Amino acid sequence: MINLGVLVSGKGTNLQSLLDAIEAGRLDARVAVVVSNNPKAFALDRARSRKIPVEVIPNTAFPSREEYDRNIAGILRDHAVDLVILAGFMKIITAELINAFPMRIMNIHPALLPAFPGLNVQKKALEYGARFSGATVHFVDEGIDTGPIIIQAVVPVYEEDTVETLSSRILAEEHRIYPEAVQLFSEERLKVAGRKVIIKDHRKPDGKMENPEARGAAGG
Ligand code: GRF
Repeated sequence: MINLGVLVSGKGTNLQSLLDAIEAGRLDARVAVVVSNNPKAFALDRARSRKIPVEVIPNTAFPSREEYDRNIAGILRDHAVDLVILAGFMKIITAELINAFPMRIMNIHPALLPAFPGLNVQKKALEYGARFSGATVHFVDEGIDTGPIIIQAVVPVYEEDTVETLSSRILAEEHRIYPEAVQLFSEERLKVAGRKVIIKDHRKPDGKMENPEARGAAGG
């Protein structure tokens, strides 16, 4: 059983997916604390309704990003956090926090990294004309969305997609793979070797995907 510290800024649907996986017995962890930079984040209500300790630290609470992060690291340590989960935390974290939890911070990103790092990436994938996008869970290093990749899930992009329809298709995959990645960590099956994450006893996916499907394929 590991202690999670979850950092949020918004709706908290990824926090919810972790809580659901814990309740369903699919994730051997407990959420020790939820930290938000946004006092109005709905994620805080999700935590409070389960009596999970919350800490709200507005962006303006400290004069520098480093001091902000030093404070967060202190809170996480006070709650004996083993793994830090960025779940829609809309703030770039600094070396202060990264070095306090080396390869023990995970993030989820709504694209197939290294394609489309940064913000508004569902829109960018659509505008680029990508035929597939997806979600990536990765460890956090000092770059923006550059850390070692743990799990990726792929979704097709349809010509009629809007940012909303693509985002919700990706979000459904986020909710599936984030708890899986955390469970792998909890089982001590993740080893970071340079840029790569080696996963002990993992199952290889089979099959290929193409979009559009080849003529003659079922339903095509
Ligand atoms: C998700 O799309 C996540 O990938 C991104 O921000 C969104 C957070 O959603 N980093 P939620 O707050 O977990 O609902």
